Amino acid sequence: MSSLPPGAYRPPADRWGSFTKLASRLPEGSVAVVDRTVARFHPTLIPALEARSPRAIIQLVGGERAKSMASLEKVLAGGLNLPRSGTLVAVGGGTVGDVATVAAHLLKRGVRLVQVPTTLLAAVDSSLGGKGAVDLTVRGRVVKNPAGVFHYADETWLCPELYATLSDAQVREGSIEAWKMVASLDAGLFKRYVRTPPALEKLVKDARGLKEGICAKDPYEHQGLRRVLNFGHTFGHVLESLSRFKLSHGDAVGLGILWALDVGRHLGITPEPVAHEVERALTRGPGVLGRDHAAELSRRESLKDVAALLDADKKAGAKGELRMVLLTAVGTAEVVDVMPKTWRALWPAWTRGARP
Ligand SMILES: NC(=O)c1ccc[n+]([C@@H]2O[C@H](COP(=O)([O-])OP(=O)(O)OC[C@H]3O[C@@H](n4cnc5c(N)ncnc54)[C@H](O)[C@@H]3O)[C@@H](O)[C@H]2O)c1
Ligand SMILES: [Zn+2]
Repeated sequence: MSSLPPGAYRPPADRWGSFTKLASRLPEGSVAVVDRTVARFHPTLIPALEARSPRAIIQLVGGERAKSMASLEKVLAGGLNLPRSGTLVAVGGGTVGDVATVAAHLLKRGVRLVQVPTTLLAAVDSSLGGKGAVDLTVRGRVVKNPAGVFHYADETWLCPELYATLSDAQVREGSIEAWKMVASLDAGLFKRYVRTPPALEKLVKDARGLKEGICAKDPYEHQGLRRVLNFGHTFGHVLESLSRFKLSHGDAVGLGILWALDVGRHLGITPEPVAHEVERALTRGPGVLGRDHAAELSRRESLKDVAALLDADKKAGAKGELRMVLLTAVGTAEVVDVMPKTWRALWPAWTRGARP
C-alpha cells in the first residue's frame, strides 16, 4: 500500500490474474460495488468477494443510468461504516467505475480505490487516469459528467476471464479506443500492429501504457496535454448524438477518426499516405464501421443543427472554430483550431459516405 493520501496521483499498479485469485488481496471489511450483469455472468465473483468478509456488496445495473445521484447515494450509504483506512473495490464497466470513483473520493473524504474493469473500454480507458463522474438530469435532460472528481485507483486488477462474456460489438468498441491511442501516440507500435494484430491482453497493456504516459505528465488536466486522447471524439460525439445514442461510443469514435483524418488532409496537416494507412488499419484491425454508417446518420441533418451539437459539446470556440486533434504523422497528434468552413466543405461528401 502506498503512503500517498488515497486518490492522489500515483503510477498505476496493474495486477493481472483471475478475479478469484486477486480477490484474496482485498483487505477484510472492504466495500464492493459490482455490476449486476457481470455478477450474473460470472457466478464465482460474489463468493470470492464474500470470502473477504466485506462490509457491504452493492450491486448496480451497469449502463449510463448507473451514473446517477441515486446510485451514488446507494454506494455512499453502503460505505457508511467503512473506516478512513478502508478500501472500495469497483467491479464493472466504465459506468460502475465512474460512480464508484466519485464515492471513493467522498467517503470519509477519500478512501482507497481498487478498480476491476470488466469491459474492454474500461480496461483501456476509463479505469485509468483518475477521473470519475456522475450525470445530472436538468429539466428532463441528462447532462453527462458535470459532477466529477479526480481520484486515482490504488490498484487495478485486470482479469481476462471476465472479458470472455463481452459481445463482439463491445470488444470492437474497446479496441477502437485502444487503436486510437496507438495511431496517435506510437508509430512503432502502430507498424507492428498492422503487421500482426495484437491479442486482447497485449492491446490492453499497450493502450494502458500509452494513456498512462500522457496522464503521468498531466495527472489533473492542468496543461491540456490529455486533449490528444480526444482524437476522433469531436465528430464522434456528434454522430453519437445524431444516432440518439444507438451507435456505441467506440463505433462513433471510429467514424469520428475517419472524419478527423479527412479534416487533417483537407488542411494539409495530415499527409495523404498517413490518412490512407490509418483508415485502412482501423478498418482491418479493430473493425471501424464503414463510412455509409456515418452517411446514414448525417444525411438528413442541417448544418445548423450539427454546428449547435458541436457548440454544446464545448469543443467550439467563439467563432465556431473546433479544437480538433489531428495527425501530423502516424503516432504524432496536434491540437488544431479548425474553422467551420473546413468541415462544412467536407460535409456533402460525408453525407454521401464518400471519402472527400
Ligand atoms: N473516467 C474516464 O476517464 C472515462 C473514460 C471513458 C469513458 N468513461 C465512461 O465510461 C462509461 C462507458 O463505459 P462502458 O462502455 O464500460 O459501459 P458500461 O459500464 O455501461 O458497460 C456496458 C455494458 O456492458 C455490461 N458489462 C460490463 N462488463 C461486462 C462483461 N464482462 N460481460 C458482459 N457484459 C458486461 C454492463 O452491464 C453494461 O450493460 C461512460 O459513462 C463514459 O462516460 C469514463
Ligand atoms: Zn472515448
